[in-house]
Amino acid sequence: MRRRSFLALTALAAFTVTGCGGGQGNVGSLEFTAPLHIPPVLDPAPGPDGVKRFPLRLQEGRAEMRPGKPVGTWGINGDYLGPTLRAKRGDRVAMNVTNTLGEASTLHWHGMRLPAKMDGGPHQMINPGDTWSPEWTVDQPAATTWYHPHPHGQTARHVYRGLAGMFLIDDDKDVALPRTYGTDDIPLVIQDKKFKDDGELNDNTGGTFGILGDHILVNGTYGPYFQVTTTNARFRVLNGSNARVYDIGFADDRTFHVVGGDGGLLEKPVPVRRFQISPGERVEIVAGFQPGEQVLLKSFDGDSDIGSGDFDLIKFTAAERLKPSAGLPGRLADLAPPAKPTKTRTFRLGGSNINSRNMDMTRIDEVVAAGASEIWELDNVTYSHNFHIHEVVFRVLDIDGEQPPEHLRGPKDTVFVPSGTKVRLAVEFGRHTDPKTPYMYHCHILKHEDQGMMGQFVIVPPGTEDHTSRTVSMSGHGH
Ligand code: C2O
Ligand code: CU
Ligand code: CU
Repeated sequence: MRRRSFLALTALAAFTVTGCGGGQGNVGSLEFTAPLHIPPVLDPAPGPDGVKRFPLRLQEGRAEMRPGKPVGTWGINGDYLGPTLRAKRGDRVAMNVTNTLGEASTLHWHGMRLPAKMDGGPHQMINPGDTWSPEWTVDQPAATTWYHPHPHGQTARHVYRGLAGMFLIDDDKDVALPRTYGTDDIPLVIQDKKFKDDGELNDNTGGTFGILGDHILVNGTYGPYFQVTTTNARFRVLNGSNARVYDIGFADDRTFHVVGGDGGLLEKPVPVRRFQISPGERVEIVAGFQPGEQVLLKSFDGDSDIGSGDFDLIKFTAAERLKPSAGLPGRLADLAPPAKPTKTRTFRLGGSNINSRNMDMTRIDEVVAAGASEIWELDNVTYSHNFHIHEVVFRVLDIDGEQPPEHLRGPKDTVFVPSGTKVRLAVEFGRHTDPKTPYMYHCHILKHEDQGMMGQFVIVPPGTEDHTSRTVSMSGHGH
């Protein structure tokens, strides 16, 4: 009964939020005259100590999202978005994040498996003028991860203004996928924006889900085209939007292959015509092209209640002569089945809370043993949400009792949880213990996260769970 009335409300809310595109949508009106911006790669050579050091500056800027109409933005080492960071499994990396903004922020490495103190969550604030220098060893399979701020209550605004970038992890496994960055291995960061009458970014987060913009950018470019020069191209798609869920495919409905997700490659390529992607998720695809053709990548009207709609995203123009590129290997990765779970935890997703509680930075919600395998059961009793867990990888076991589509069966860290559904995850936790510094789990609809739809967990040595303090000391916070 209760669930039903929630759902009815939801339908209404979704309609008012998405019902009017104001005629400004991304359909039919785009000319695709702007070359797609490809974020530069930052892959520093290791210093004498063997450490790769990445200088990163959070800064203010101005960006021409629409031609001739520059708007105030934030960026990392630039006006809008940040460089693509690149490191290899086994690399020791050190970040030097300098905050030149007028307010405190953080930088979180979404998808990275690292000690909690290096995670860049709300407990690692960087005050204006300060530099934060986390350091860790990259130890996980090749994957497309990303980075963005995580200041509690302000994440939506900071990401929306432009603070985000990709962090690509490589490993030694020689998988014959397209891999020339910017040529046949292309990042696609999808984000929707709204503009005010004076042309500036509109960050008014009204509505159930917050910002749903009517201008959809790819890598910060509005109406972009990309010239394809190879027979196959790999696209690393990141939904970097605050809320909107996309159902992505080509305008001619061609089949392409999903080769990877949040946590790395799938076992084998999965042929699809569309895939759904919610905020924070990454999907890697490989698509084939014919010489001289032009084709649009689109978002189609899907079944999500978070801004689903028909939008053109980017035009691909294939050269008259295409160079042969790496094909599609039959096998991509060996994925061990999830280990036997030792515990099940249930998380009831409410309007903007989890298990009826709002985020409290001083409270530890869950204590997990290092290296544990657990079932996390998400029970969404309201409109749609998604769910992200820091530090871990998980496999989606089932959605309302049914196996997820094949391309969602690989390692992930963020999952869409549609309105009124139950999703079960097999979660694999890492071994960096720190009973005093929590990691986060939360809805990645940034308005919901800011409203407190977030909880904290610590990873502790096995056997010490029961005498781990449930309170976080906030002394020294900010440094
Ligand atoms: Cu992408 Cu806790 O975030
Ligand atoms: Cu994260
Ligand atoms: Cu949510």
